Amino acid sequence: MVKRAVANHGLDPGKVSPVIGCQEPWHYRNDMEFTFGESGEGEFALGMFPRGYHYELVNIEECFLQSPFVSDFVPAFRRWAQSHGVEPYINESDTGFARLLRIREGKRTGERMVEFVTTDDSEASFQEGRCSARDIAEAAVEFVRGFADEFGKGDQDRQVSSIYWTRKHVAAGDPTTWNEECLWGTSQLTERLHLPGGKRLEFGIHPRAFFQTNTFQSEVLYSTVLKAARLHPDQTSATRPSTIMDLYCGTGTISLCLAPYAEKVIGVERQQDAVANARRNAERNSLDNVTFVEGDVGHVLDEDGELAGVDPELTIVDPPRGGLQKHAIDQLAALAPSQLVYVSCNPDTLAENTAELNDRVGYRLGKVQPIDMFPQTEHIECVARLTRI
Ligand SMILES: C[S@@+](CC[C@H](N)C(=O)[O-])C[C@H]1O[C@@H](n2cnc3c(N)ncnc32)[C@H](O)[C@@H]1O
Repeated sequence: MVKRAVANHGLDPGKVSPVIGCQEPWHYRNDMEFTFGESGEGEFALGMFPRGYHYELVNIEECFLQSPFVSDFVPAFRRWAQSHGVEPYINESDTGFARLLRIREGKRTGERMVEFVTTDDSEASFQEGRCSARDIAEAAVEFVRGFADEFGKGDQDRQVSSIYWTRKHVAAGDPTTWNEECLWGTSQLTERLHLPGGKRLEFGIHPRAFFQTNTFQSEVLYSTVLKAARLHPDQTSATRPSTIMDLYCGTGTISLCLAPYAEKVIGVERQQDAVANARRNAERNSLDNVTFVEGDVGHVLDEDGELAGVDPELTIVDPPRGGLQKHAIDQLAALAPSQLVYVSCNPDTLAENTAELNDRVGYRLGKVQPIDMFPQTEHIECVARLTRI
């Protein structure tokens, strides 16, 4: 698939290395979201929509992508909700209360965050009557705690560490809002990454914050980025790049991984929450040579932008599936970084953007390294190195 995408854009498929497989192809996901609603038979459901479906859910009885805890917990929470008369939210009729159940796990830390997402109604059906929404959420917390104690008996490191109740407001003409409230435990989930040279990074993850969904394989991904960038733990300060730019940095994971190898790292991201999270994570890891700029990549790099005139020795881009937008390509072509590392979850846009940058700037395409971040799916992550000719 990656070779075909590369060849389709006139690039050399011989540059594509064999895929780095995932050591643990089962139970790898650290984040899954299940929806309340109805099955095709009109029964109470807590599960997922099959591809192409928007109304009929499939109940999840066992899930091989997240941990055994989740596999047991989701059906148990569904039975609890159904037997206590909690109504699933139904989109077509705009009725009901329970919207989503999301579980996030720190694979390195053993922490777990459970988020029960409901409508923002102040009361709802419960145990054959009506009850305040808060009382229903508190009852859900009791159930989750009881389940977790039973499941994790004797294993203090594998417990639920946070329980959130989130009221999601959705109404035509209004912006969608998420009102998160931590009803029990710590307000953030902690996850840790183990990186080359014995380095460790810790991340505080808020319910809405993005984090790669496969913790162990994201360590492989970031190590591959370091390799593609020719950065290694025994680098002396003389060979250290003075400035690295990490464009589309999300919550700053790549920026923080690169920070020990450069004088200065600048991350750029347009989502305000992600930037705030990235700054907190830099502080948490005592990395004071990283700064984050909030804004659109195309705009911050243009001549009136915040980063006009900055000339990085190394630039990383990790755009969404759609790839680099026209304005961003124009700015990158003008910046013409001597070393560019392109991280992508879509081989087609990676190849298309690379071919265009080659034409406009003149780059030599180095290795394209596919990494299986999402076993049991057709998705693949790639890291490509481009060097200006
Ligand atoms: C694939 S994610 C990057 C993830 C991050 N590098 C990591 O490994 O966690 C892409 C990010 O680009 C951001 N983004 C999308 N379009 C953007 C734009 N035009 N300017 C700046 N950031 C953008 C998204 O908000 C998202 O956080």
